[in-house]
Amino acid sequence: MTMKRRGATWAACALFLVTPLSADALDEAIGRALFRRAWVPAPSSTQANDGLGPLFNARSCTACHGNLDRMPVQTDDGNAVTDEHLVLRFSDSEGRPDPTYGRQMQTSAVAGVAPEGRVVQSEHGYSAAGLAYGKLGPGIRTGALLAPSLRGLGALQTVPDEALAAIAAENARRDDGVRGRVNWVMDRDGQRRAGRFGWKASLPSLEAQVESAFALDLGLSTEGRPRPEGDCTAAQEACLAAPMGNRNAPFEIPPEIVSRITAYLASIKAPPLPEPDRHGLAAFERAGCSACHRPSLPGSAGPVQAFTDLLVHDLGPDLDGGATEPGVAPTEWRTAPLRGLSQTLANEAGLLHDGRARTLEEAIALHGGEAALSRTRFASLPEAEKRRLVAFLNSL
Ligand code: HEC
Ligand code: HEC
Repeated sequence: MTMKRRGATWAACALFLVTPLSADALDEAIGRALFRRAWVPAPSSTQANDGLGPLFNARSCTACHGNLDRMPVQTDDGNAVTDEHLVLRFSDSEGRPDPTYGRQMQTSAVAGVAPEGRVVQSEHGYSAAGLAYGKLGPGIRTGALLAPSLRGLGALQTVPDEALAAIAAENARRDDGVRGRVNWVMDRDGQRRAGRFGWKASLPSLEAQVESAFALDLGLSTEGRPRPEGDCTAAQEACLAAPMGNRNAPFEIPPEIVSRITAYLASIKAPPLPEPDRHGLAAFERAGCSACHRPSLPGSAGPVQAFTDLLVHDLGPDLDGGATEPGVAPTEWRTAPLRGLSQTLANEAGLLHDGRARTLEEAIALHGGEAALSRTRFASLPEAEKRRLVAFLNSL
């Protein structure tokens, strides 16, 4: 057994004895179990599981990413959102967090700490209700995000930053208004890397995304995000005073757990691609969709057929998401990968970052800004070709 394997749980060791798994497969199996693990507040008798919160949205990754696909949002009679997989973010138009509530509204908290509020749905979208710590700061906007599908993310990681930079350079010379750019972000080792995960492409690697989820969604600290109090701010005293987890280690979640969950995520394959309908793909290209939803990107392990360019594009005021991330405008989004679209449609999970579009036609109609010309081209396609294009999207 290697050093890395020393922290393996008894359950995982038992698994290792019964089924001869390769080292990678074992890491994935442990990663899957950790992805499903429900964390508990500190102090608890099993320190290895504690440190949840003080403010949090859910107790496990699975609570929001249950079947790994995007899921529809349910509301109760009072229009309050009853699912955890839709989160509400807070920021000003530059991506600076709310001085009191931080970056995200945590809808749950440990005993003795008040949850921040709840999410309600109206005809204008989602907003915050029952805010427990007073008003939002001046200029603070709210924006809802759905938990995306987690299939096929490992492949997105294999596209070199240079390849994305080259596509962005090519975009700068286009004459159709498409101006995608790399969202360069600082990785925790101080290196500048291409952001590629999250709706705003704000995280450069799966590992960084996992650490962000631990901090924002679960209130658990990691090497990359060492604050045990997660998203609590200086204005939230009860939260800061609450007990924190894992008193014998510098972080509540040790690096081995982060790396095993990361390995598990990287192992989840994208759904298989159907035999391509050449006519559907041709219509997709004619309408200019493929300028952003690139059918293929060059990955270090072969072509990545995810129908995205991993760049951020400004889609105009109809897709102003309210809250945003530093360095990304509220109207800018990562080109959504269209691979797996058929599953999202089958689940009736809603399209676009907050599920606001019910149908493909509605989603296309909301494409403005850099995609305005493409939207017009789609609208002027002959009916038969439009149907071909929509059928093609439905097959992905
Ligand atoms: C409260 C619900 C919630 C919980 C709990 C949660 N997530 Fe997420 N997850 C989301 C949302 C919402 C997004 C989109 C965030 C964004 O765009 O900034 C997301 C995004 C992601 C992504 C990026 C997907 C992509 O397409 O780029 C990964 C990977 C991920 N989550 C993994 C995890 C892991 C691992 C955990 C547990 C440590 C976790 N999540 C816990 C809601 C959740
Ligand atoms: C300028 C770049 C650009 C062009 C051109 C473009 N898109 Fe998009 N598309 C995006 C971005 C960015 C998003 C994510 C927006 C959001 O989540 O709010 C998106 C989202 C989508 C979605 C929703 C996916 C999901 O998982 O929710 C669909 C469907 C879609 N586009 C189809 C098309 C079609 C069809 C065309 C051509 C008629 C097209 N797009 C042209 C950039 C583009």
